[in-house]
Amino acid sequence: MRTDYHSHILPKIDDGAKDVEMSMKMLEILKTQGIERVIATPHFYLHKQKSVSDFLRKRDNALKKIDSSPLEIVTGAEVAIEHGLSEVKDIEKLAITGTNLILLEFPYSHFAEWMIEEIHNVTYEHNLKPIIAHVHRYIPYYNKSDMEQILKIDAIFQVNNEALRIFKEKRLMKKLLKNDFPVVFGSDCHNLSSRKPNFDLLFKKIKENLLDESDFVFEKYSINK
Ligand SMILES: [Fe+2]
Repeated sequence: MRTDYHSHILPKIDDGAKDVEMSMKMLEILKTQGIERVIATPHFYLHKQKSVSDFLRKRDNALKKIDSSPLEIVTGAEVAIEHGLSEVKDIEKLAITGTNLILLEFPYSHFAEWMIEEIHNVTYEHNLKPIIAHVHRYIPYYNKSDMEQILKIDAIFQVNNEALRIFKEKRLMKKLLKNDFPVVFGSDCHNLSSRKPNFDLLFKKIKENLLDESDFVFEKYSINK
């Protein structure tokens, strides 16, 4: 199933869709672009949340509001890497539902070793496979050796559909694909304007087999297979 691994389509839960109408329009556009399954990944910031269970309750409520979605929606979260994340109760429940996959976002500040340790602890203690959210977006913040450390993580690397616009992003993409890093694609759509559903951009540039490989990651890490 053609899959969008990163989206903010749930209404009024984060800085994504601001209401049900916007959510439904975003879903319609994704459908027109050929997407069949969308992973809803609202931001989870440990320092802003009361608890994982409270976040999940809000996520379920948002999902219920768009139950007439034209696409299959699978719940997940975009989990910001923060100190102590691995020790938080129920952290494993932020995995993409029905899979061992968890989408993790690095901070947009300087890189530090503890971030790798948190990822290691979150994933190994709970038998999860990390997906590093939009790996190319850290290039302006992290130096070359930091990026190399990130690429050494036993992870899947998520790329946003617009990633091929600038030279450094293109170079990273080529490196990932040439060296057979596992890659999945996502729109990271937030709205209908500045960050809209954009699979039209990707389909022009990427070969069909890479899209198939991206789609298959969901099945490969499915718990119910
Ligand atoms: Fe995102």
